[in-house]
Formats: sequence, structure tokens, C-alpha cells
Amino acid sequence: MKIGILGGTFDPPHRVHFNMAAAAKDALGLDVVYLMPCGTPPHKDGSRAASRFYRYEMCSLGAKEYPGVEASDFEIFLLAPNYSYRTLEWFSAEHPDDEITFLMGQDSLNMFLKWVHPEIIVKIARIGVFVRGDDSFEELKKEAQKEIDRITSSIGGDFSLIKITPSELSATEIREDIKKGIDVSEHLVPEVYEYIKSRGLYEDKMEMDYTEIEKTIKKKLKKSRYRHTMGVCYTACALAMRYDVDMDDARLAGLLHDCAKGMDDNELVRFCKKHDLGITEAEDKSPHLLHSKVGAYLAKKEYGIDDEEILHAITVHTTGCPDMSLLDMIILVADYIEPNRFEAPRLAEIRQMAFKDIISAIVMILDDTIFYVRERGMYMDPMTEETYVFYKKIIDEREEQESE
Ligand SMILES: [Fe+2]
Ligand SMILES: [Fe+2]
Repeated sequence: MKIGILGGTFDPPHRVHFNMAAAAKDALGLDVVYLMPCGTPPHKDGSRAASRFYRYEMCSLGAKEYPGVEASDFEIFLLAPNYSYRTLEWFSAEHPDDEITFLMGQDSLNMFLKWVHPEIIVKIARIGVFVRGDDSFEELKKEAQKEIDRITSSIGGDFSLIKITPSELSATEIREDIKKGIDVSEHLVPEVYEYIKSRGLYEDKMEMDYTEIEKTIKKKLKKSRYRHTMGVCYTACALAMRYDVDMDDARLAGLLHDCAKGMDDNELVRFCKKHDLGITEAEDKSPHLLHSKVGAYLAKKEYGIDDEEILHAITVHTTGCPDMSLLDMIILVADYIEPNRFEAPRLAEIRQMAFKDIISAIVMILDDTIFYVRERGMYMDPMTEETYVFYKKIIDEREEQESE
């Protein structure tokens, strides 16, 4: 099969991206072109990117309208910055019988020899270069050819040019327009547009950056709670490194997990009633549990976090829940083992286990929590037990399999 790869941030993917993929497919006779969103894109304007899952899903939704164009989740789990030669090495190892074409713009071509290991890239893939098909096309084509000659004389390679309809449209502009409330529907595939609207992506929600949030949290929390929060933050970062989870997400979730801890029980109950957040039987009996739910609400409304994964990790950080994401688990564990904690039994053991096998660490934490709560005759949130049963079963099944 002939496969084309078009990498990018795709935050969000717009018409020009899909048109480029379709043009490459037609011009080079490819069977499929993959839009391959990268893991954690740094935006030059400092704005936070939509989560990689959102960007991948938007690519998939948009691609439905373009036959032969698809989305690939190959890069979204890789930590940024990732180098193209590595992606191609891994991708080609998974597609040994396919012919791969790596697609790039003319700007990238001009910088290509400065990339990390361009000689590996040209060995693995053919290169397709987009050239703007406006009045200056012939001139641009000549420039591109000159650059290609320079590259091939140095490292070889098989390059082709792809003429595309020129456009000034950029994802940065689209994000800015959405923030200003300007209608951008003409630049997006309708399903992508709906996706962005329904999740409120890129809307202006007092976007604060990490440093601003940290300053606010410091003001709002007691000194000891702030110290604990920072402990959770860097422990969550370390665990994110270990388990290949987005470090920015882990850091933000850690920073905000106890952001409602400044409220006492009465305030938490009042807040939940006022904002219709609902109070379960367990929360009614132990109102302090509400700080997770209220924390997630504040994270969204006051700190502008729209990433559902982060909000979920904050929501479940006290009790956990069955089938947690890795980020959920990381925050729950970091909350328990961060360096300012000293009271729990088996801490040293759990701390080591957290970096070896996070599911075992979860089971140990919940086991100890349940024991502690029962021993003191305190009320047990059923969700803690449900989570324990769920993960204990995973461990038991694993052990059974290993002993077979
Ligand atoms: Fe908490
Ligand atoms: Fe905490």
C-alpha cells in the first residue's frame, strides 16, 4: 500500500489540512493519507492546546468527508518533542510492506537539512513537498527544486512536488476567532465545528497559564495545604514521566486537585446546592468528600480548564472509580504518596510500588484506606470499596494467569 503521512498539531484541523491531504493523495497516487496529530504541541502564542484526544478525534471526524484521508493516533501517545525520524522508524517497522511518503510544506523543505537525522528520513520515506499554486508557482517550484537538488546531493532521497491551492488560513487564527465569538464554520468540516462548539473548545474562559493558577492557589489555600498541593504536583509529574502521560495535564490536575479545600464542610454543601452539583448519600455523611466535585467545577469555571481528562482526575481523586484513566490513577496515587505525607502505614512500600506497577499501588492504597476507615468506625464511601474490588480483581486475575 502507498501511505502518505501528514503530521501536525491540528489544533483544530481545518479545511486546508484536509485539502492538502487529498491533493497529496491524488498527485502522488497514494492509497491513503494519514493526518497524524502530535502529542503535546507547544503553541508559539502560549495558548494551551486542545488535548491530543480531542485533536485526534477532530481529525477522524473531518476525514470522513475526504475519501482516502484518515486520522492516525500513532503520535498522540508519544511525548513531545518527538522527532520525525523516530516516528518514521517506528511507523515503517509496523508497515514493513508499505511504501511511505512523508509530506511537508516548502518552509520545512528549506530547513530539512537542519532537522534531526534527515538522512534516516529519506532512507525510510519518499518526501512530498507542498508548493503554493498561485501566481508565483513557477518561481516557487524552481526554488523548491533548487533546494531538493541541494538536499539530494548531500543525503540523497526521492522528492516530489505537490501543487496546492494557496490559503492564508491558519489554526491560530481559527482559535483566536472562536475566542472572539467569530463564526468560523466555513473553514471547518461541519462535524468538526459541532465538536468544537459542543465542548466549548478554544472559547475564552479566562485562560490562565500554569504560573497564574499557581499564584492564585497559593493565595487561596492554607500554607500546609499549598505545600501538599505542590508535593502532589511534582509527584504527579514524575509518575507521568514513568507512565508516558502528558506531563502538563498531570501537573495541572495535581495543582488543582484540592483547589476547593479552602472551603469548610458547610460551604461545600451550600456550594453544591447552589450550583446543582448533587450530593450523594456518602457525601451527605462526609461533606469533605465534596471537595473533589467542587474542585473540578472550580477548575472549569474559575481556572478555565476545559480538558475533560483533567477535570475527571480531580473529580475522582478521593475515592477513585472503576476503570480509571492513567491520569486519574496518577493523581490518586500522588495525593497519597507525595513527600509531605508521613502518617500512612506502608508508605515506603507504596511509594516504590507506584513507580513499578500503579495498579498494585492503587490496591494497596485503597486496602489501607478501607482498613483505616473501618477501624475508626468512620463512614465508608461505597465508591472506595467498588474501586478496590475492581482493581483487586485485575491483580488477582493477573496473578492467576502468571501461575498457570
Ligand atoms: Fe483532596
Ligand atoms: Fe490532596
